[in-house]
Amino acid sequence: MKNQFDYLVVGSGIAGLTFALKAAKSGTVAIVTKKDKLETNTNYAQGGIACVVGRDDSFDLHVKDTLESGDGLCHPDIVDQVVKAGPQRIRELVELGVGFNLLAEQNGFDLGREGGHSRNRILHAQDMTGKAVEKVLIAAAEADPNIAIFENHLVLDLVVQHQSMKVGSVDLFQQDTCRGAYVLDIAGEEIHTFVANVVLLCTGGAGKVYLYTSNPDVATGDGLAIAYRAGAQLANLEFVQFHPTCLYHPTAKNFLISEAVRGEGARLIDKRGRAFMEKYHPLKDLAFRDIVARAIDTEMKNSGDDCVFLDITHRDAAFLTKRFPNIYRRCLSLGIDITKDPIPVVPAAHYMCGGILTDSSGRTSIDNLYAIGECACTGLHGANRLASNSLLEAMVFSDAAAVACAERLESWRNRELPGVPDCSAKVCAENGSNSEMVMIAHNWDFIRRLMWNYVGIVRTDKRLALALNHIVQIKMELKEHMPNIALSSDLVELQGLALVAELIIRCAISRKESRGLHFNVDHPEKGGPCWLKDTIVKKNAAEEFLSLPTVQWG
Ligand code: SIN
Repeated sequence: MKNQFDYLVVGSGIAGLTFALKAAKSGTVAIVTKKDKLETNTNYAQGGIACVVGRDDSFDLHVKDTLESGDGLCHPDIVDQVVKAGPQRIRELVELGVGFNLLAEQNGFDLGREGGHSRNRILHAQDMTGKAVEKVLIAAAEADPNIAIFENHLVLDLVVQHQSMKVGSVDLFQQDTCRGAYVLDIAGEEIHTFVANVVLLCTGGAGKVYLYTSNPDVATGDGLAIAYRAGAQLANLEFVQFHPTCLYHPTAKNFLISEAVRGEGARLIDKRGRAFMEKYHPLKDLAFRDIVARAIDTEMKNSGDDCVFLDITHRDAAFLTKRFPNIYRRCLSLGIDITKDPIPVVPAAHYMCGGILTDSSGRTSIDNLYAIGECACTGLHGANRLASNSLLEAMVFSDAAAVACAERLESWRNRELPGVPDCSAKVCAENGSNSEMVMIAHNWDFIRRLMWNYVGIVRTDKRLALALNHIVQIKMELKEHMPNIALSSDLVELQGLALVAELIIRCAISRKESRGLHFNVDHPEKGGPCWLKDTIVKKNAAEEFLSLPTVQWG
C-alpha cells in the first residue's frame, strides 16, 4: 500500500506535533510513531521550558548562559535565534491551552531555576511539564482534519533518490532527494511505502544506548541511524549529557529527579550527610550539568558507594508536595518520603546534544529531509546543553521549518521526479526465524553495558578503542545473522542502536581534548582553537573524522 502526503513527520513529541500543526495549514500531514502516540521523550520531561519572560531577565543573559554551558561549540547565531523566538512560541502554547504554573503575587509565570541559569526562567506545569504540553498538542493534532496519526509504525529506512548531471567529465550537480520512507506497521506486520514532498525526523533521543538512562524505552536513536544510512551528515555525537540525578532504586526504572529540585534548594550529599559540590564549582549544586554529573561520578568512585543523595528536607512539606507532586508520589510509592528522607540518586544518560546536522530551518544535508528536536544538531547546545533549552529549541525549529517548507511546497508539488517504487509487503513468518531471539536480547544488553562502562561520563583512549572493537564485532555478527532472523521492531532498533553506539564512539575517539560533556582522562585539558568545530560524520567518509581511530594496546 502506498500512502501519499505533503509532509511525513516521524515522531509524535513536541517537535513533530508542533511542526504538524503548523504544516497542516499548507498541506496534508502523516505522523508516524513507533508506539502509542503519547510515548515520547517529551511526555517525560519534568523541568520545563527555558524562556525569557521574567522582569529581571534579558535575551542577552539567556544567550550568555547558553553559550557558557556549550563550552565554545554553540553557534551564536542559532542561540540568538532560539532565545529571541522563545516568548512568541510560549504564547502559542498558552493559546493552545498549556497551563503553566502562575505566581499570583507577581502577576506572571512561576519561574523555576536549573543548573547554569543566572535567572529564574523555567516555565513549568508542576513537575510534569512535558505531559501537559504533549496532551494539548496531541488533542490539537487529532482535531485537525489535515493530520493523520499512525501509531505502532516504525520507520525502517528513508526513500532517497540520487540525481546527478554530467557534461563530459564535469559534474554539474549531484543531489540526494528524500521522497518518503519505508515503514513497518508493527501490529499489521506489513511494510508500507509512504511518499511525501518533505520528510521530518523528530525521533527524539538515544538514551537507550546506555545501561542507565532517564529516557523511556522508545529513545533508541532511530532517527540518527536512519539519517546516517541515507547519507546525511551527523555531528557532535560525543556530547552525551548525563543527568546528575536519576532515582537510585532497584525497582525504579528511568525515573528522573528534576534539576528543578536543586533549583528549589536541594543539596547533594554523600552517605555521611556531607555536602560535596562546593569542592567542584562555585555554583555548587547549580553548576552546569557536566560538572555536577562528573562530581557525583568522582564521589562514587572515591567512596565506592552505589549512589549519592539529594536532600530537600529543609523545605516545607506542603510546598514540596504542591511543587513536585509527581516526584513526591513516585518516591513515596518506593518508601522514600522526600519531605523527610534524602533521595538516593545516580547520574544517567539523559540527552544527546549532537545529532543530524541542520541549518537554521531544520534542513539537513539531504534535500527535502528535515530534522527537529533531540535528534537534530542545530548548533544550539554546543558541547553541553543548558537545562530546559531543548523543548524551546524544538518549538522554535518546528516553526522555522514549517515556514520554510510552506514557501517551497508548491514548487515541490509541481516538480517532475521519477516515481517511488512501491515496496509494500507482508512480513511473512518464512522471512526469518524466531529461534535466535536470544541474539537480539544479548546484544541489546551488551551494547548498553559496553557504552556505560567504556563510553560514559569519564572516558579514556584505551576504553574507547576497546569499545570500538566490540561494537564493530557486534555489527558484523548482526550483518551476518540478520537475514535469518524474523523482522521485528526489536531487531530494527538493535541495528540502529549498534550504529548509533559506533558513531558516538567514533566521534569520542576523534576529539582528543576534554570539553563540555566529553571528558577524556588522557586528554584532560581543553584543546586550542583548532578544536572549536563540530565533529561531522557521514556514511562512507571516514576521512571526514577529525582523526581516524588507531587502536593501541598495552
Ligand atoms: C530536569 O527536569 O531536570 C530535566 C530538564 C532538562 O533536561 O532540560
